[in-house]
Order: sequence, then C-alpha cells, then structure tokens
Amino acid sequence: MTQVISSDRVGPGGILSPQEIEEINADLSHYEDNQAVCIDALKIVQKHRGWVSDECVEAIADYLKISAAAVEGVATFYNLIYREPVGKKVIRVCDSVSCWVMGYETVRDRLKSELGIEYGETTADGEFTLLPGPCMGACDHAPVVMVDNDLHEDVDESKVKAIVEHYKP
Ligand code: FES
Repeated sequence: MTQVISSDRVGPGGILSPQEIEEINADLSHYEDNQAVCIDALKIVQKHRGWVSDECVEAIADYLKISAAAVEGVATFYNLIYREPVGKKVIRVCDSVSCWVMGYETVRDRLKSELGIEYGETTADGEFTLLPGPCMGACDHAPVVMVDNDLHEDVDESKVKAIVEHYKP
C-alpha cells in the first residue's frame, strides 16, 4: 500500500492548499503507486482552481515524487485537464469522424457566433470557453456538444442558442 505523505509537506511555494493535499492523500491511500494518483491529483487541483498552472504541475510532481514531465505528459494526454484559465463553463464540440460526417461545422460556427469567440477563447464575461473535443462516445447521436459534464446529442444549428441560454447565469 502506498504511504500517505504528511500534509505539512507541500510543493514549491506551498501552493497546494490543505484541502487539495487532503484529497490527494485520500487517493494515495487507494493506489499502489504515486504515478497512478497523478490524474486524480490534476483533477483535484482543477476542481479547486478551474485549471492547472505550470506551478501546480510542479507542485503535484514534487508532492507525488514523480517528474514534472510525467505530470505534464498526463495533463497533456487527458483533454479534460485545462492548462490555461477557462471560463466558468467549458463548451466542447466533438470534431471526430461521426460528428464531422453529420456536419458539426455548422454547430461549431453557430456556437462561435452566438458566443462571439473563436476556439480556445473565453467570453468577455468569463462565462464560457469554447474548445474542440475528441469523440464523446455518443456517435450515434452526432453532432454532439458537451457543456461541462452535460452531453447534448443530435445538436443542430437551431438548438445552439437554447443550449447557450440554458447555461447563462
Ligand atoms: S464522433 Fe462525435 S461523439 Fe463520437
């Protein structure tokens, strides 16, 4: 069983919060090695901060005693980890093959015009970030859009405005 690290030991600059460390430690008690905790540690930090900065990647690496490159590799591979600040809600548009065949471009373009932003941008009010995304596992209901954890299936141009309105504060 993996040894749980004392919560008084934090990463560079002590930037991991006590709450983050407590949650990471809870995961450490369930896994055989610290590397396996890496993705959960990234998710924990993102849950508390909205995204994962370079400093947080280094702090996680230091805390788990693995290389920053290894943490960075996991963060890069896992597309739900954001390495730059994002809006309060992240809208991802599937651009994989089924959604492409079903004309995701019209949905994407309507989202861009509805939000007034391009891919990778955040609305001026900080509410929405728009990103492309890989297959979301609902290919038989393409095109598919995900808003945070909510999957919207069979989306067409005419549904975009209602989807955006639904998530506005
Ligand atoms: S290709 Fe879009 S959900 Fe699978």
